[in-house]
Amino acid sequence: MRDSRETFVNHAFVTGYPIKHSRSPLIHGYWLKQLGLPGSYRAHEVKPEEFAAFIASLKDGTSGFCGGNVTIPHKEVACRLVDQPDELSQELGAANTLWVQDGKVHATNTDGRGFVANLDERAAGWDRTSTAVILGAGGASRAIIQAVRDRGIKTIHVVNRTVERAQELADRFGPAVEAHPMGALKDVMTGAGLFINTTSLGMDGSEAPAIDFGVMASSAVVTDIVYVPLKTPILAQAEVQGFAIVDGLGMLLHQAVPGFELWFGCRPTVDADLRQLIIDDM
Ligand code: ATR
Repeated sequence: MRDSRETFVNHAFVTGYPIKHSRSPLIHGYWLKQLGLPGSYRAHEVKPEEFAAFIASLKDGTSGFCGGNVTIPHKEVACRLVDQPDELSQELGAANTLWVQDGKVHATNTDGRGFVANLDERAAGWDRTSTAVILGAGGASRAIIQAVRDRGIKTIHVVNRTVERAQELADRFGPAVEAHPMGALKDVMTGAGLFINTTSLGMDGSEAPAIDFGVMASSAVVTDIVYVPLKTPILAQAEVQGFAIVDGLGMLLHQAVPGFELWFGCRPTVDADLRQLIIDDM
């Protein structure tokens, strides 16, 4: 697409159903303004039954978009419908970032990169441990396991209410990943250096379990992927017990970086003003 000045103006979207609560337009709007770029990024609601037609319109150029983000409930189906899902999104069975290149729709998944970048920024050295504990075995857990394993963490204990789901991940990822029921939490936390919560425990009407973080290594880092509230019940407990905590907001911000760079050709930075902008919107 060209505007009257004959420069390329790219337009990107975030789609889901529903989509009005997405904070992605705020994030990308901030970067477009900061970098003085003429493109746009907006929420574009697509019903599940219309999603295949939307992907077709990206491919044939009629949508007017050069790419965008996909979120619930389209992440899995996007991975199946696009022309070129990358290896990572195929492995995870879910995509969150799409772009059109040479008439083909490409896809990747940036959740794991966002998770790791957030820890790198706020808890440098987090990957010196050999053992991590992940609470939860959903889609987010899967992307994080992959990213943490790729950073060299040797043993990853996945603890889940439904132990069969944790076992599926262990079967998929091989010997580095071990599945456990909730009752084993304290045992597997003992001596571990990283605790990751990927569940809504304590925020979905359920009571937050009392967790004894004191059994972990004294240098352990405790993090959550939920960012509303910033200090989840699990992070609050860990902080009181003297552990370094990292909230999930940075993961949201960092997972957006690769997409922005793909669509607008410029790598943005995650800065304090952006973080504050999202906090003010909560
Ligand atoms: P996501 O893709 O965001 O990870 P998900 O696939 O719905 O979401 O997974 C949510 C995770 O939170 C699951 O591990 C779920 O446990 P189950 O597999 O047993 O359902 C976990 N979870 C949600 N609410 C929970 C609760 N009250 N107690 C314990 N685990 C909970």
